[in-house]
Amino acid sequence: MNPNTFSIPDELVAALRQAQHVAVLSGAGISAESGVPTFREAQTGLWAQYDPEELATPQAFRRNPRLVWEWYEWRRGLVAKAEPNPGHRALAELARRVPRFTLITQNVDGLHQQAGSENVIELHGNIMRTKCLDDGRIVTNWPETDEIPPRCPRCGGLLRPDVVWFGEGLPYSALTTAVAAAQSCDIFFAIGTSALVHPAASIPAYAIRNGRITVEINPNHTPISRQMNYVLNGPSGEILPALLAAAWNPQSK
Ligand code: OAD
Repeated sequence: MNPNTFSIPDELVAALRQAQHVAVLSGAGISAESGVPTFREAQTGLWAQYDPEELATPQAFRRNPRLVWEWYEWRRGLVAKAEPNPGHRALAELARRVPRFTLITQNVDGLHQQAGSENVIELHGNIMRTKCLDDGRIVTNWPETDEIPPRCPRCGGLLRPDVVWFGEGLPYSALTTAVAAAQSCDIFFAIGTSALVHPAASIPAYAIRNGRITVEINPNHTPISRQMNYVLNGPSGEILPALLAAAWNPQSK
């Protein structure tokens, strides 16, 4: 990890105060300070310890539904214990400060919503929701059972988490709304994402190509860092509150 050498540029602060529409793409890094593991960090990332081919594909689920269900149960437990951090809360506050705000997340943990963010666009679903493997309908209750995974009370299909697995499509309206926001916003932030997993990782390119002001917040460099107008190297739980304070409460800068 790089030393955290962020400073908040004055021009960015001025642009933020004037922005009519701010769009944010968040990734696992924004929840790291809440204790939710990221995916790709060398020691602590989930994919350093587990094989996504065995756990996060439709084929994996069909091969070993019990293993996949139990792994998601473990992750649901981690998420249930986690609380939003100052980065999540700063984004909820930012939404109240600017006329229009679009929050797009790759995260499935619901921590943005817990922090008070509304209308969050969830590109990869939500780990706390469950759906039927066969008809894709959301299932909120099912009878007590020892069977793992449990079965859909309507059709008997296996239940699975309502997340997007590798090889599956993203929800169409979430993706098109996200792309439109990246194209038309005044300022676009990429926060806590390695920008490696497409199609979500392509969203910043729409902002870049359309000449939007682009900002990355991440302690590490990523494939998009060099194309962003501003790169703030450090944890989002520190940078986002500092950015808000600089824009709307300058004496505490
Ligand atoms: P990754 O784990 O790939 O990347 C996390 C990023 O967060 C890295 O670039 C870190 O440097 C950065 N980071 C770590 N701590 C941070 C902090 N305190 N503040 C800010 N940034 C920090 O996670 P994603 O990019 O979200 O997909 O991964 C994308 C998708 O890959 C996930 O949604 C998931 C995964 O496979 C599915 O499950 C479909």
